[in-house]
Amino acid sequence: MSNKEKSIYITTPIYYVNDVAHIGHAYTTIIADTLARYARLTGNKTFFLTGTDEHGQKIETSAAARGKSPKEYADEVSGKFRTLWDDFGITYDKFIRTTDEEHKTGVQKAFQTMFDKGDIYKGNYEGNYCVSCETFFTDAQLLDNGGCPDCGRPTTIVKEESYFFALSKYEDKLLKLYENNPDFILPKAKAKEIVNFVSGGLNDLSISRTSFDWGLKLPASMNDDKHVMYVWLDALLNYITALGYGNDEANMEFWPANIQLVGKDILRFHAIFWPAFLMSLELPLPKHIAAHGWWTRDGEKMSKSKGNVVDPREICEAYGLDAFRYFLLREVPFGQDGDFSQRALMDRINSDLGNDLGNLLNRIIGMSGKYFDYKLTSKDVAKFHQKELDEVQTLLANSEEFLYHLQINRFLEEIWKVLTIGNKAIGDYEPWNMVKDGKIEEAMALVALITNIMAKVAVLLKSVMPLKIGEVEKSLGINIDTGAYNKLIKNNELMDDTVITKIDALFPRIEEELIAVASSNPTTTEVVKEVLVCQNERTIKIEALEDEANLITIDQFFGTTLKIGTIVSAEEVPKSSKLLKLQVDLGEERTRQILAGIKEYYSAESLIGTQACVVANLKPAKLMGMVSEGMLLAAKDENGLHLLRPEAPKKSGTKVS
Ligand code: MSP
Repeated sequence: MSNKEKSIYITTPIYYVNDVAHIGHAYTTIIADTLARYARLTGNKTFFLTGTDEHGQKIETSAAARGKSPKEYADEVSGKFRTLWDDFGITYDKFIRTTDEEHKTGVQKAFQTMFDKGDIYKGNYEGNYCVSCETFFTDAQLLDNGGCPDCGRPTTIVKEESYFFALSKYEDKLLKLYENNPDFILPKAKAKEIVNFVSGGLNDLSISRTSFDWGLKLPASMNDDKHVMYVWLDALLNYITALGYGNDEANMEFWPANIQLVGKDILRFHAIFWPAFLMSLELPLPKHIAAHGWWTRDGEKMSKSKGNVVDPREICEAYGLDAFRYFLLREVPFGQDGDFSQRALMDRINSDLGNDLGNLLNRIIGMSGKYFDYKLTSKDVAKFHQKELDEVQTLLANSEEFLYHLQINRFLEEIWKVLTIGNKAIGDYEPWNMVKDGKIEEAMALVALITNIMAKVAVLLKSVMPLKIGEVEKSLGINIDTGAYNKLIKNNELMDDTVITKIDALFPRIEEELIAVASSNPTTTEVVKEVLVCQNERTIKIEALEDEANLITIDQFFGTTLKIGTIVSAEEVPKSSKLLKLQVDLGEERTRQILAGIKEYYSAESLIGTQACVVANLKPAKLMGMVSEGMLLAAKDENGLHLLRPEAPKKSGTKVS
């Protein structure tokens, strides 16, 4: 991607509808959104695609486990993804669903074209399949215990009639592609793995299944109703069907894509299968397939069974959307794995956003108000501060290159160097002494220099933190659009005269973690609930949930001591919007102090004397400086949060089993 291009096409993977959105989905989507916003700001015609991947065995099984039809289930989860992105202000141009009618027509046309070219033939497949990854593996690829080499889960043996795509035919062409386009796979280090894989030899790819139904049918001309298409063939083609391939092709002008963002686990599909399909269709290839790393939480892999999956909505409600966006983009170099912790997020908020960015704006508001009645002019900035202006321009001009090469953390680092120039200039020139000495013109030039620095930084940061930078625009009296970008960044000009407006602190300091993980994580209770259902309804549901819920054994379940507790006192925790401090009687010598994140749902008084189910053998944790010695079980859905309680009163401390 470069700023010379006129039409920019950016894609995220389409997300499976067997799970709710987590930090990994939010990460890719926020990177893509930032790039798309930036491309638009710099005057490029831009198309940004995201959506949901809704076919395949995995979805069929998940839906059955919930007693729903696959379509019903897909509608529900796809809707949740879309609502989340809408609530996050994600600026997608199209949200594709693989159950869309146009997608089906496009995929069938592609199948037919490949078939007519002689790249698809019918045969028999016998081999191993991982339903969770929707991937075929050879014996040699499996783990020693027969497990999937990607996710470790058990594989099944598939033996059925199948159509094949002649992938092996494209081996040499793919190797040439990687050799001639060293930027095709980003970061470049990742290309090696792919080259090694392809050099090891490619088998033809099974692209249809007969043992289940939930998929796209082959084109009618094939006259073969038994088969549904392999979900990865169906899914990858979304990147062109979304532009109208096989239907009204007007938007195909955006093809080839400039950047296709993927997680490292699905790079192989995008860097091998996808270009081979496109070669077969005789379509141009994407410019870059960019693979990011994986997020862990507090150093641990996230999983539903651990109950430590980062819910992006919860984080944003507690810490703010823009802080979350900044954190994701700044914390980890693109391509590397990253760790999410509330502590790390708070550090970024308090230091980078509060101190460096927010304080500089505060100082502009303070100085402009005190010395100049908020009215500023840039007319003498160059006369007194050419040196600083040159330094700023060099940094800003170089920063853009980092963004276009997906070194987004470096892009932000360069911008922060510019903020440092601003903060340092105030200390170096001491405008208060200039005013005292009657050097009003110089003081004005200094305050206007800082304001220009803030304005230029704001232009570049608008795509990263659209909401907070909106407030900066209001405060500085500027409007950030392509005109402002051309004027302040490209042509290196200064702001027009302006009037500063006082606004609240951009990023108020956060002293304590705002989310009580132990007390309010609904995922944990959801899993417990699901396991209980399985115990009653036996094996069919257990099988169905196995690959996605990471089932635990009965022994593991009873490793958790659940007891009925009576809440003897309850009070609000000052300065916390979520926490209540409870004293709970568990039939022990003394009551336990439990901090529960339920303040939004229960008043303190209403809880006194009531009972709840308590996890009684949880390691004590400190929240907002106070010890919490247990956790209340609760269930949360769109109708709110409710504590789990016994149907009839029980003695305090009664075991739940
Ligand atoms: N449906 C396929 C993609 C088809 S694209 C033609 C798929 N869907 S997914 O929902 O399972 O995964 C979507 C993305 O989330 C992948 O890019 C994956 O790498 C990413 N992540 C899943 N867990 C993640 C983390 N813990 N951290 C970062 N990203 C992670 O695969």
